[in-house]
Amino acid sequence: MAYFLGIESSCDDSSIAVINDSYKIEYLLTQSHLECSQVFQGIMPENVSREHVKYLPALIEKISKEFDLSLIEMIAYTAGPGLAGSLLVGAHLAHSLSLILNKPLVPVHHLDGHQTAYRLEQDEVSYPALSVIVSGGHTQLMILSDPFSFEIIGKTRDDAAGEAFDKIAKYTGLGFPGGPILAQKAATGQIIKGLFTIPMSSSETLDFSFSGLKTQAMRVWDDQKISLEDFCATIEDTIAQTICLKIKQSLAKYSFKSIILSGGVACNQKLRSTLSSFCDKKGLRLAIPSSRLCADNAAMIAAAGLKNWLHDKSRYQTNPKLSPLIRSHWPIQESFY
Ligand code: KG4
Ligand code: ZN
Repeated sequence: MAYFLGIESSCDDSSIAVINDSYKIEYLLTQSHLECSQVFQGIMPENVSREHVKYLPALIEKISKEFDLSLIEMIAYTAGPGLAGSLLVGAHLAHSLSLILNKPLVPVHHLDGHQTAYRLEQDEVSYPALSVIVSGGHTQLMILSDPFSFEIIGKTRDDAAGEAFDKIAKYTGLGFPGGPILAQKAATGQIIKGLFTIPMSSSETLDFSFSGLKTQAMRVWDDQKISLEDFCATIEDTIAQTICLKIKQSLAKYSFKSIILSGGVACNQKLRSTLSSFCDKKGLRLAIPSSRLCADNAAMIAAAGLKNWLHDKSRYQTNPKLSPLIRSHWPIQESFY
């Protein structure tokens, strides 16, 4: 059995994982630094970097008490996109381990991690596939002709879906991060049809825009004519319908056999069930990771690293140079090196 290490530190989660050559998780330890963000209702980059400095080595040490790190064949880490200070902490840990263990270092794109997470629990999907990444920083549609080739067919023009949840929740005083709290309130609310317009619904574009919905939501909330629960249920439904509409429109323009849904917003039950019914009707395979693997975690980074390393081992160095280790702004269509 071969083992592979993953390190994730692009935002406010310190996470370390070991997976094996069947993409099975052996260890996954994640420490979220939510308290640090909750005080400010948003992420404070410097504070979060300090938490990574404290927690990443501690998590490695914890794993090393039960697992012999010399069995690691390759080290994958998030090289971008993300907060520069946070990425650097994980990258330097990965670099040091690569030198100590004399094993190759594989920089991973955070979004490739998200869209590969399902492999930790399910068989590979059939291609072509539509990858739908919905997180706090990204909302993106990509056609994958195979696991390594893709075309971006739609993305957000302003806020990401998770950002829309977070900003609307913050406005109503629900706290941070807004998505899960808003979803919890929505569970006991009623959807009020026609209250919000589905953004970009009359447009042929596969791009998203959530900033108008945010403004509309603030106006409705200020009117105080609706309960918090009904407001949350209606916002949640509108965001889920918006994502599903662009997926439907993608199917009219492109042909694909499967849909891979990933990113933190993919934890949302309303979105999962709406998309699941759509895929059942259309005969499409739907791959969604379980909730703990939709949120940022190092197992998805190890999985994407393993996929890419097996594809072309010659690209990755066993004695890596120190620079560049990260790309804070890394368009997914560009290669790291
Ligand atoms: O992928 P992720 O963990 O971090 C980024 O890479 O951005 O996504 C975090 C986002 C946050 O905006 C959070 O509010 C949202 O995912 N989120 C949810 C739910 N759980 C997390 N949004 C809606 N419903 C949820 N249940
Ligand atoms: Zn993420």
